[in-house]
Amino acid sequence: MTLLDVKNLGVSFRTNDGDVNAVNGVSFSVKAGETVALVGESGSGKSQTAFAIMGLLARNGTSTGEITFDGNRIDGLAQSDLNRIRAEEIAMIFQDPMTSLNPYMKISDQMIEVLTLHKGMSKSEALNECVRMLDAVRIPEARARITMYPHEFSGGMRQRIMIAMSLLCGPKLLIADEPTTALDVTVQAQIMDLLSDIRRDFGTAIILITHDLGIVAGACERTIVLYGGQIMETGPTRDIFARPSHPYTLGLLKAVPRLDVDHDILPTIDGEPPNMSALPQGCPFSPRCTFAVDRCASDRPVLSQHGIIHRACHREAEAVK
Ligand SMILES: Nc1ncnc2c1ncn2[C@@H]1O[C@H](COP(=O)(O)OP(=O)(O)OP(=O)(O)O)[C@@H](O)[C@H]1O
Ligand SMILES: [Mg+2]
Repeated sequence: MTLLDVKNLGVSFRTNDGDVNAVNGVSFSVKAGETVALVGESGSGKSQTAFAIMGLLARNGTSTGEITFDGNRIDGLAQSDLNRIRAEEIAMIFQDPMTSLNPYMKISDQMIEVLTLHKGMSKSEALNECVRMLDAVRIPEARARITMYPHEFSGGMRQRIMIAMSLLCGPKLLIADEPTTALDVTVQAQIMDLLSDIRRDFGTAIILITHDLGIVAGACERTIVLYGGQIMETGPTRDIFARPSHPYTLGLLKAVPRLDVDHDILPTIDGEPPNMSALPQGCPFSPRCTFAVDRCASDRPVLSQHGIIHRACHREAEAVK
């Protein structure tokens, strides 16, 4: 069953230097319980796609397109309806949990408030539920530690607490925006394990936003590759990793460190990310693409199906292997 359906999403920001077109005609859907990765370099439009879904764009931003969640259109909803959806149906966690946790409040008070407010629970009922959720995200001795303040936990533990908090109302969709970027590699792996447990135990669909293709492989069934606010390639993660067919994906994959290869310097994609105020007329990646042909500069490729993968590229798959 389709849980989230995003059709032709556009996000632009009005600035003194002209309009920034952060997201340009992005369409995708997420099924109930599915895990989807949204990957791309910095500035490719990942977070703004998520913010548009959540109705959380900055003041100078506007979005166009259709967003349907659980069968209902949620674009253009009133703030009060959006507040309810954000609290109860779609949860979002961010890179740095300290931006979402209140440093002056005990964890217990922050968590309990969510349940008394949105689920009408009594304080003691809510406390039990919060401890249960902290246990679920494997905070040791949750009942004793729930009365501590955020700074008394490590970064990884704080991210676990944020995840627990985001799950309190039983959301159907969790959007995790770079949830592990601020953490060291071992803790990153633990948080990724936790996200997959959550999906298994609670059936929560997850959109994982990351610039790091390396963490996507084991974690997400489907991958959407964004560049210049457009989808370059999308399909089952397994197939994208086995046979990357878009030159940009290939570049991203080359930049993932591999244990079986001796790296002096990790390859990066030559050139600069596009100026989102003045995107090229054709494919946004064409100025950096080593496979570009003449028409790439003038015609914007549309997503089309190639076997199991959808790709927006004028070149044939074979050419980039
Ligand atoms: N309020 C704003 N006003 C103007 N431009 C903005 C605003 N917010 C975001 N942008 C621009 O929108 C584009 C896409 O930003 P977005 O936050 O989606 O990037 P991202 O893919 O999440 O990158 P990162 O990996 O760095 O988080 C960027 O060029 C960014 O500078
Ligand atoms: Mg971002």
